[in-house]
Amino acid sequence: MAIAQAALNDSERYDGVARFLHWAMFMLVAAQFTVAWTMPPIEWGTEPEILINLHLSLGVLLMMLVIARLAWRLTHAVPPPVAGTPAWQRWVAELTHFTLYALLLVLPLTGWAAASARGWAVTLFGIFRLPGLVPEDARSGFKAGDMHADLLSWALLALVGLHVAAGLYHQFVKRDGVLQRMLPRRR
Ligand code: HEM
Ligand code: HEM
Repeated sequence: MAIAQAALNDSERYDGVARFLHWAMFMLVAAQFTVAWTMPPIEWGTEPEILINLHLSLGVLLMMLVIARLAWRLTHAVPPPVAGTPAWQRWVAELTHFTLYALLLVLPLTGWAAASARGWAVTLFGIFRLPGLVPEDARSGFKAGDMHADLLSWALLALVGLHVAAGLYHQFVKRDGVLQRMLPRRR
């Protein structure tokens, strides 16, 4: 069911803001995992150094972008599903997108709670500082940190893997123009 991919009109693709936020967040999430896996192990009494502070600042940026993205998403139309997509695939795509948004919101919140429990300053590159989400030494903050590092980050990674596999399947197997909906318009 190959369609002429360059022939998508505006109502068949995500708008410029949605596309910008999607790819900006993709780069930030990739950077966030790279920093998280390179920063020193976090133990009792660890003082944040440059990579840990970078993880916190990139995280604050990500949190701001996901709020902007959700606000945009809830107030703007998205393209209808590509014609011919089976109902179960639409359903899986919707569930995946919903869970991706949820994780992109909950991961930063649990990271912020963990940093607060450790008494670390959470800033956007030193420009402004967020208040503590939980009191210093709060058990809930440490529990949130465990979930952040050991469960939620892996869940996000697995879901992104599924999402990218689906995108590549549409592009190279079904060739139905789904990827084009999220890419810049061809000149
Ligand atoms: C999508 C966004 C994020 C991703 C993918 C992410 C990913 C990760 C990963 C993989 C780890 C584990 C590192 C290790 O194995 O040692 C980690 C730890 C941590 N992250 Fe994030 N992170 C995100 C956002 C944030 C934010 C916004 C903050 C705080 C403002 C934050 C604060 C932390 C802290 C404090 C830890 C250590 C947790 C602990 O053991 O207490 N993260 N993060
Ligand atoms: C951190 C990585 C990524 C995250 C968190 C992510 C998240 C999302 C979310 C939440 C949506 C739903 C948009 C909406 O309807 O509101 C979406 C759509 C989309 N994403 Fe991603 N994405 C990521 C990476 C990628 C990559 C690498 C590709 C390329 C294969 C891709 C291709 C697409 C496409 C084509 C759509 C539109 C799907 C449709 O029209 O139904 N994404 N993405």
